[in-house]
Amino acid sequence: MADRLKVAVLASGRGSNFQALASACLAPDFPADVTLLLVDDPDAGAIGIADTLGVRSYVIDCGRSKGSMSKESSEEIYRLCSENGIGLVCLAGFMRIVKGRLLEEFSGRMMNIHPALLPSFKGLDGQKQALDYGVKVSGCTVHFVDKGIDTGPIIIQRSVPVLQEDTEESLSARILAMEHEAYPEAVKAFAEGRIEIFGRRVEIHDE
Ligand code: GRF
Repeated sequence: MADRLKVAVLASGRGSNFQALASACLAPDFPADVTLLLVDDPDAGAIGIADTLGVRSYVIDCGRSKGSMSKESSEEIYRLCSENGIGLVCLAGFMRIVKGRLLEEFSGRMMNIHPALLPSFKGLDGQKQALDYGVKVSGCTVHFVDKGIDTGPIIIQRSVPVLQEDTEESLSARILAMEHEAYPEAVKAFAEGRIEIFGRRVEIHDE
């Protein structure tokens, strides 16, 4: 049997996508394991989830500059990932732009989930941006990570309606439910070698 793909999740907060990924991996026919959680905040809720699920976690000091990561932390995360045989890095609410060694070495092997239908509403508060703009449909996007902010090739998108009575909270909850389906689906396809990247276009081959 082929080796199972080892996945590291990088998070900064609540960790519901980390939980969705790690839980999906518990299914016997899922071809990947989340083996590492790396957070930049010692108060991240994701740490408690990792403890419960028995996933090793590390708090990495990514520097004081909000939204960006120090060169040292990029090296450190890369080192941890390579020492642990990580084949895919999943950003899940990681509030820093990944750069340096980590980005270079994991090019084409690093995904992110964004709570809007890219290329609309990049950056922070995608759900609020969608509401404020007045779109009737929003959703989530799983994409590969490149050096831009939410600009990498799109792997999977899921849409949800934006309802007249929606608040940021209600729309976020509807989108989050889709995130929890789309992210494991993308990881499964990657682990099964069914994803091919052609420039900006990503093809997912049938199972
Ligand atoms: C999610 O909405 C994700 O799309 C965005 O940050 C949020 C993280 O939530 N990138 P959680 O920590 O996974 O619950």
